[in-house]
Amino acid sequence: MRAVAHPIPDHVPETLVGQFNLFTAPGMTPTPMGDPHAAIGMLLSGPPIFFAPGNTRNGEGTWVVVRAEDQRHVLQDGVTFSSNRNIFSSALGEDWPMIPLEIDPPAHGHWRSLLNPLLSPRRVMHLEPIVRQRAVDLIEGIKAKGTSCDVMQDFCFPFAVSIFLQFLGIGWERLHEFVDWANDLLHGTPAERTAAAHTIVAFLDDLRDLRRQEPTDDFMTFVTQAEIEGRPLTDLEVRGMAVLLFIAGLDTVAAAIGFDLYYLAQNIEQQNSLRAEPDRILLAAEEMLRAFPTVTPVRRATRDVEIHSVLIRAGDLIACPSMTANRDPKEFSDPDQIILDREDNRHVAFAYGPHRCLGSHLARREIVIGLEEWLARIPEFHIKSGSTPMTHGGFVFGVENLMLDWSAKEAN
Ligand code: HEM
Repeated sequence: MRAVAHPIPDHVPETLVGQFNLFTAPGMTPTPMGDPHAAIGMLLSGPPIFFAPGNTRNGEGTWVVVRAEDQRHVLQDGVTFSSNRNIFSSALGEDWPMIPLEIDPPAHGHWRSLLNPLLSPRRVMHLEPIVRQRAVDLIEGIKAKGTSCDVMQDFCFPFAVSIFLQFLGIGWERLHEFVDWANDLLHGTPAERTAAAHTIVAFLDDLRDLRRQEPTDDFMTFVTQAEIEGRPLTDLEVRGMAVLLFIAGLDTVAAAIGFDLYYLAQNIEQQNSLRAEPDRILLAAEEMLRAFPTVTPVRRATRDVEIHSVLIRAGDLIACPSMTANRDPKEFSDPDQIILDREDNRHVAFAYGPHRCLGSHLARREIVIGLEEWLARIPEFHIKSGSTPMTHGGFVFGVENLMLDWSAKEAN
């Protein structure tokens, strides 16, 4: 449930007030799966910037910057367009940033340098055998139970959560407990969200204290021992990093694999061609990240500024949906066509500028490995007849449920 839309500010011209809203536009609310990406892609035929009333969970309106070039301008300038919003902590009645996402330049650069090695391509290469084993275990478990499943609940979501547990050095046996917390946090009622947020923060705080006393070689040990500008990190800084890592890689990775499997379940020829030639999955995953991106970065203007001669006042929120940028015809030929072998695919699913996704190497490997193992182990699959896939909108698009069925092929 979302709050009532705030009144439209006086400086917003009536002609620039759009009916569009990331949470409620057709195909994006929890309605039977339409094509949320195509729906938002339609914005490209409208003005390059418009105001969307009630475009946040708390009812605040935002400007929406539609074109890729304008989004790059906003996302590159972290001083004029701040990401310091303390979203997670303010929902708990507290006041601390998720690090580095809610820290602005120049301080942001110090945090980024500290964290970069943790998610570098080299580090991800070391994690890869574990990522693959997690995928195999989950898929084999699904196969052992039958010839259909809700791939979001049974594979995509637990897979993403299990990688985070690995990061924290926590055993696989606690997976379901964490999946429940993550589900409540990301998809629960407001009361469930708040309760889950408290539980997760308490867990991460306890783990921080434990790793200070008994260090190992995991993420939490690394941050408790790290220094920033010559001093150790405070408790709240460690918390701000751990919380961000927890939420940044869950819904995003699960949704990316979910949208991909949804597409492949409806496009059997493409599904079978990737199964027959798994070497093509790498490029195909990039194209599906372009076509079905999920994240909309949001910034707050720190001063009055103009975009396309439209006045944005200090304090206004600005949303940059990767969905429109990735379908911008100025950037991509045939943007609405899904061309699985598309080369030179400079999409912005992982954003742009200083806050560009720190976990993109890991995310890419999770998606590719997830698809490789799914296609190698599950025969031709379809949407289960009689089931209705559901998506949701918001600042991270997602798939609520996706029942897949492969009974026809298994019977052959
Ligand atoms: C398909 C999966 C993913 C997508 C689409 C994605 C997308 C994004 C986007 C668009 C941003 C920028 C947000 C903004 O500027 O407001 C971001 C930031 C970030 N992501 Fe990801 N992400 C994914 C997976 C991951 C994973 C697996 C991790 C880590 C384990 C991760 C960690 C982060 C961090 C730490 C930031 C903040 C970077 C900074 O502020 O400098 N992400 N992600």
